[in-house]
Amino acid sequence: MKKIITKNEKETMSLGQIIGDKCMGGEIFSLTGNLGTGKTLLSKGIAKGLNIKKNVSSPTFIILNIYKTKTKEKKIKKFIHIDAYRLSSKRDLENIGFFDFLNDEENVIVIEWGNKIKKFLPQKAKIIKIKTLSENSRELTFS
Ligand SMILES: Nc1ncnc2c1ncn2[C@@H]1O[C@H](COP(=O)(O)OP(=O)(O)O)[C@@H](O)[C@H]1O
Ligand SMILES: [Mg+2]
Repeated sequence: MKKIITKNEKETMSLGQIIGDKCMGGEIFSLTGNLGTGKTLLSKGIAKGLNIKKNVSSPTFIILNIYKTKTKEKKIKKFIHIDAYRLSSKRDLENIGFFDFLNDEENVIVIEWGNKIKKFLPQKAKIIKIKTLSENSRELTFS
């Protein structure tokens, strides 16, 4: 278990960027933490690290967003950004094609509120817990 504390929005963004840059394809990140902790911001950073130029926004109301990546020398083709807040059943996940996304190594998947669908996440999913320490500082725990 590794803990990192970020002191401002920019540091969380940069951390996401490093994570995205390290991805090789097939990664699944489950982000947990209350509203306003920085799940979307970290997702934006990951997208930046995957060279996505398009503005990445919170998928709260639409549940899922798919972005094409432009990574060279890597097999990654898509960044799948999911908000699982309203998802709970296997049926919900089947309806959005979740299990097909999982089986595609050309995807990088980031799930906000991943704890809501914990039992459907594969073993390899990386869990990132974000906690608010103060107005501008956050503790990110990687396990
Ligand atoms: N260190 C930090 N890391 C991430 N966000 C921060 C930090 N400090 C302040 N913030 C603010 O917290 C909010 C996080 O929002 P957002 O990423 O949408 O959270 P979530 O998706 O978890 O609801 C933003 O308004 C951001 O500016
Ligand atoms: Mg969010």
